[in-house]
Amino acid sequence: MSSEMKTVSTISDNIVWHHATVTRERREAQNGHRGVIIWFTGFSGSGKSTLAHATEELLHQQGCRTFVLDGDNVRHGLCGDLGFSVKDRQENIRRVGEVAKLYLEAGVIVLTAFISPFREDRELVRNMVKKGDFIEIYCNASIEVCEMRDVKGLYKKARSGQIGEFTGISAPYEAPEHPELMVDTGLSELDGCVQLVVDEMIRHGIVSSVKCGQYIRNP
Ligand code: ADX
Repeated sequence: MSSEMKTVSTISDNIVWHHATVTRERREAQNGHRGVIIWFTGFSGSGKSTLAHATEELLHQQGCRTFVLDGDNVRHGLCGDLGFSVKDRQENIRRVGEVAKLYLEAGVIVLTAFISPFREDRELVRNMVKKGDFIEIYCNASIEVCEMRDVKGLYKKARSGQIGEFTGISAPYEAPEHPELMVDTGLSELDGCVQLVVDEMIRHGIVSSVKCGQYIRNP
């Protein structure tokens, strides 16, 4: 990591960057693929986590180093002190961005699944890393489809007022204007969506080839 690429805020004026001898390049050479942040964004229930995990499963079975950072999990620990106000969501995404950046340095393909409703916050993470290290994927499922699925029963609670500031119901979502990829996770089959994600990764030179039909969905 270059010391020039600053993090967002710092009060650590007297801390000097320590350069690792095992560099990102050496890790990537050992892994046989590049590190990258694959950033999935979309409503709750749009299929971000499902798509991130299915893509990870495929890549893992073919020898790639991968990790999924998921909103529902991260909010139990690293971001357990944060709620859903604009400020807290901003801080959530900032922290996740910093963690994803560390994984990137470790040469890992990190897949993140956060609603990340604000363009500015997603752009902030994009700008934390070099061009090409951040691939934004818009999981485009309509609010109607997500609400109909209501896997966690949260939309029902949001409609009845039990949960406030709920994205798509009582809080905004800013769809990406120029994502690297838009996937119709509202209607398309999962395998087709995984294929699109992997094709995009190949286009960006992250991995050279991935055999999509040849993995076990639920090992
Ligand atoms: S983000 O807006 O800060 O990016 P994040 O992805 O971490 O959100 O967490 C979203 C998950 O928290 C949703 O999938 C849902 O399960 C849960 N959740 C609980 N309350 C809310 C709320 N008010 N708005 C959106 N999601 C909520």
